[in-house]
Amino acid sequence: MPLVTTTEMFKKAYDGGYAIGAFNVNNMEIVQGITEACREEKAPVILQVSKGARAYANHTYLVKLVEAAVIECPEIPIALHLDHGPDFETCKSCIDGGFTSVMIDCSSLPFDENVRITKQVVEYAHDHGVVVEAELGTLAGVEDDVKVSSEDSSYTHPEEVEEFVTRTGCDSLAIAIGTSHGAYKFTPAQCTRNEKGILVPPPLRFDVLHEVVKRLPGFPIVLHGSSSVPQEYVKMINENGGKMPDAIGIPEEQLREAAKLAVCKINIDSDLRLAMTGTIRQYMAQHPDHFDPRQYLKPARANIKELVRHKLVDVLGCAGKA
Ligand code: G3H
Ligand code: 13P
Ligand code: ZN
Repeated sequence: MPLVTTTEMFKKAYDGGYAIGAFNVNNMEIVQGITEACREEKAPVILQVSKGARAYANHTYLVKLVEAAVIECPEIPIALHLDHGPDFETCKSCIDGGFTSVMIDCSSLPFDENVRITKQVVEYAHDHGVVVEAELGTLAGVEDDVKVSSEDSSYTHPEEVEEFVTRTGCDSLAIAIGTSHGAYKFTPAQCTRNEKGILVPPPLRFDVLHEVVKRLPGFPIVLHGSSSVPQEYVKMINENGGKMPDAIGIPEEQLREAAKLAVCKINIDSDLRLAMTGTIRQYMAQHPDHFDPRQYLKPARANIKELVRHKLVDVLGCAGKA
């Protein structure tokens, strides 16, 4: 099937109590690892491209890689989404350039300015058959060149969501309930130790999510910053020349809970980066004489695939839903 929008995916996910995985893509191996897992697990998927990915790999290369995945995986629905579109021009360029979904992220601007720009993107997108994700509330962490400290982050105010969605006409809404971008989501000081001595971050604010859902029944909610930072890959990186102390992510059980509620899209990028980097570091350390990129990219792609499979089956609940 051709590239799809997220409309049908989100309706089924909402009704079925699961979420669609939205994975960031930057190169061929990442596209292949994700979509091979989705094809084998019969899962719909959102492949998303950030401003940084477009700057790194070029818009056309990324669109063509995703189109190749569509040809290779004809049985599963695939949406191509702009992640964190910073302005109208970037969104327009992706809408004109083959994307089926865009995010306009004006969450750091005052409410009325966020409404104004989001509405402008929605009008253009809907005229072209493209859907729009918007954001209210500010996540902590690093995305592109923007770093938001935890002091400057803010949870979504549930009392604002109805007015925002009504005035903008957006199709889905990203909210801030305590997730955060990157591999360093929490400092050890923000965490507590469980009985096994493992650092546990503060729980997600399900109370905020419930309040949002009460005001927007049936409306698809999105969670950004939802990597769980698998400690096996942090360890693999640290044991093979890397230095990533205190990388802490979102517990997977909490994401599974969110997926059963109104959360229809869960964004995962850092976990895939950790799997790729850990695998390459380990391969390099074990094979210091190898220099063919295919040799180290092959196990990296295979580990991305297995990690995505785990997310589809055990976290998102979207395996078998294509
Ligand atoms: O939220 C941001 C995504 O992880 C994309 O990251 O801007 O480094 O491509 P990037
Ligand atoms: P992570 O950094 O937690 O993977 O979040 C990715 C994301 O939100 C992309 O928009
Ligand atoms: Zn994000």
